[in-house]
Amino acid sequence: MKGHGTLEAVPDELSAADILRFLQTDDPAVIAHLYRTADRIRAEYVGDEIHIRALLNISNYCIRNCCYCGLRRDNRELVRYRMTADEIVAAARRAAAQGYRTIVLQSGEDPFFTEEIVCDIIAQIRSSCDIVITLSLGERNYQTLMRWFQEGARRYLLKYETSDPTLYQAIHPDMQFQDRIRMLENLKEIGYQTGTGIIVGLPGQTYASVADDILLFHKFDADMIACGPFIYNPKTPLCQTTPDRQRYIQPDAVSVYKVIALARIMTRDTLIPATTALRMITPRDGVRMAFQAGANVIMHNVTPQPYAALYEIYPQQAGVDQFPTREAFVSFLESATGRTVSHGYGDRRAVVEGKRRHPERQHVARP
Ligand code: 5AD
Ligand code: SF4
Repeated sequence: MKGHGTLEAVPDELSAADILRFLQTDDPAVIAHLYRTADRIRAEYVGDEIHIRALLNISNYCIRNCCYCGLRRDNRELVRYRMTADEIVAAARRAAAQGYRTIVLQSGEDPFFTEEIVCDIIAQIRSSCDIVITLSLGERNYQTLMRWFQEGARRYLLKYETSDPTLYQAIHPDMQFQDRIRMLENLKEIGYQTGTGIIVGLPGQTYASVADDILLFHKFDADMIACGPFIYNPKTPLCQTTPDRQRYIQPDAVSVYKVIALARIMTRDTLIPATTALRMITPRDGVRMAFQAGANVIMHNVTPQPYAALYEIYPQQAGVDQFPTREAFVSFLESATGRTVSHGYGDRRAVVEGKRRHPERQHVARP
């Protein structure tokens, strides 16, 4: 590490070697400088506003078997649920009435939600409330994604989790890294604001592979980037390990803050959340620190009970959000961060202004 000068003159991009050094350093002064630089860039490129997304977990059925996730199909200990179309539309209307301007419809990869059923849900929400629809429904084919976009969905989340093909293969039985990347490219081509992200501290995940993940955020020109710590779930086959610090990135909050900061520095004007997984391991500090290290987005779970408690990706994630209303959440956020919560839709600025890095893919995201 060359000292503080390395980042002061931070160019448009950091090299893989720079990123690696920041991920590996334990020097508190260098880490503080990293956060400050990310915070300055965040203020310059996306301003001080925080964007809140309503999160509706519509089904916990999943046909995939990701080794780290409690929703995996082989987890027989989980009680499964699926919201009806009417329940989903009613929840979206309630969210809009409370002042949310984005709703994320998320589920495990559940084939029950066919192209037609989701089209119908999108149409009903769009005809009855002013809210941007984000989908997070797993891997789907081009035609289906196109239909949903035409119906009015505007954003899609699909994390690649790790860009290390060997690690990806080891923890995703029956899945291919290339399929993820192809789908992410399809989403961009269709015109979605496209979110991706990683899990930080997966067993066997090296610092170098996380540096590559961060470079890929930039190369892919992701619009939204979500990074959370790996949280061990005893109902899954992935073991809890104590990774060797020299080689492997730790699944701790500081690793996540660093990844957020580096993603902000590399991608400038993107939407970066303080993720639920991060808040799970450090509920209060996680929010404050993530927002000081480059984050500008947060999700608020609006899934009704009894479903909310069953969306158990990892332990304790399930359950009632501490904040019963949007208002209560807003006042917590504003006092924890000293920033204000936006009343807008929270699109990526480059998309709205047509300044996406790949000009052939410009789309304005307003429905
Ligand atoms: N720890 C952290 N994040 C997890 N996810 C799934 N299981 C875990 C876990 N054990 C995240 C993945 C996935 C989303 C559904 O939740 O990033 O994209
Ligand atoms: Fe299913 Fe997603 Fe969990 Fe994998 S990470 S098992 S696709 S819900």
